[in-house]
Amino acid sequence: MLLQDVLLLDSSMEKAQPCDLVLSGPVIDSILPPRSSSLPAEFDGKGSVAVLPGFVNAHSHAAMTLLRGLGEEAPLMEWLQEKIWPVEARLRPEHVYWGTMLALLEMLSGGITCFADMYFFMDQAAEAARQSGMRCALCRGLVGSDEKKLEEGVALVRRFHEPLGMIHVQLGPHAIYTVPPEAFREISMTARDLGVGIHTHWLETEWEAGYIREELGKDPVDLLFEVGLSEVPHAILAHGVWFPEDRLEPLAGGNMAVAHNPNSNLKLGSGIAPVPSFLEKGIRVALGTDGAASNNRLDIWDEMRTCCLLHKGFRRNPCTVRAAEVLRMATLDGARALGFEDVGLLKPGWQADLALVNLDKPHYVGATPENLCASLVYSGSSADVEGTLAGGKWLFRKGRYETLDERAIIHQARICRKELLEG
Ligand code: NI
Repeated sequence: MLLQDVLLLDSSMEKAQPCDLVLSGPVIDSILPPRSSSLPAEFDGKGSVAVLPGFVNAHSHAAMTLLRGLGEEAPLMEWLQEKIWPVEARLRPEHVYWGTMLALLEMLSGGITCFADMYFFMDQAAEAARQSGMRCALCRGLVGSDEKKLEEGVALVRRFHEPLGMIHVQLGPHAIYTVPPEAFREISMTARDLGVGIHTHWLETEWEAGYIREELGKDPVDLLFEVGLSEVPHAILAHGVWFPEDRLEPLAGGNMAVAHNPNSNLKLGSGIAPVPSFLEKGIRVALGTDGAASNNRLDIWDEMRTCCLLHKGFRRNPCTVRAAEVLRMATLDGARALGFEDVGLLKPGWQADLALVNLDKPHYVGATPENLCASLVYSGSSADVEGTLAGGKWLFRKGRYETLDERAIIHQARICRKELLEG
């Protein structure tokens, strides 16, 4: 398949590269000078379409699209205990299926090709992901020290985990304040033995940091190692807002990645993660949206822009958290965090997970190959995405979904929401 006369940009490039991009099945075959390929063009960018690696949403609870708008502007624990958990107690498998589908519509339209998801009834999420053609890393959220839930998590691994395929499964201890340390360690050791990753929440709130120090009597960085998170193939630490900045060295260069969710952290008043320090210390940072009940968008463009602006303003330093760094977080480092080794760069042999961006718009006048990365991050938005491909297949093209029935999904999601709210 030939994508003709497009501008390639990934986080390893200093500037965008005009080219013909040739795909072969699920992977990138070759990158040729523009209009030099003799293949028939499947798509002609006419020099004004950027091709980026598909975006990776490294922390989400996809089916929470059904809970969007519940309990706005409430403190986190009150929001969870009074608004979210009572509704979640009524969830049935079909709710998770349609809620996930609703999330996939939104993510695909913004160029997201891969997502990490923690929730319940994850066989339903896996089915939705498979039908959509998206890449993902799924886990059943585990709370308490319930062996039966861990068995469900393991069963999900056995049923859906494809190390070289589109679906990865991880184990998902919800957080250290909902899973006792001994049970957490058992989950990590199970993941290690299965050869799968861990996805958890870590240090989202100041309250949680206090709980770790006062109730558990631990240092929050030492505790990561005590519960076995350094021993699994890869671990996603969602949020990481309250990491002590003088204790970051042990996290660098290893298997752990922080999934930074700037909009959720701002909306829930959780605080501002020390992202400039993570980057200085060489800690892998990915970007996530969190669930639609706490954001409320599933839009990585919005996270990229907020991430760049927030840390510049907070540190009073316009040079920190640069556009090129945030593009890497949203693509390559997200894919690595989810355990995908050949996703996130535009290179021959790498997976053809792509976001196509229409640059023929007013806000891109003045964009050049040299400044394209900053143009996209600061001037662009998800509304500019004109195509999304994963594994070499079109999933979204010019406003239409190739694998999903948009009208049917919205209709079913409305029914599910009504059922959940009315009990
Ligand atoms: Ni979360």
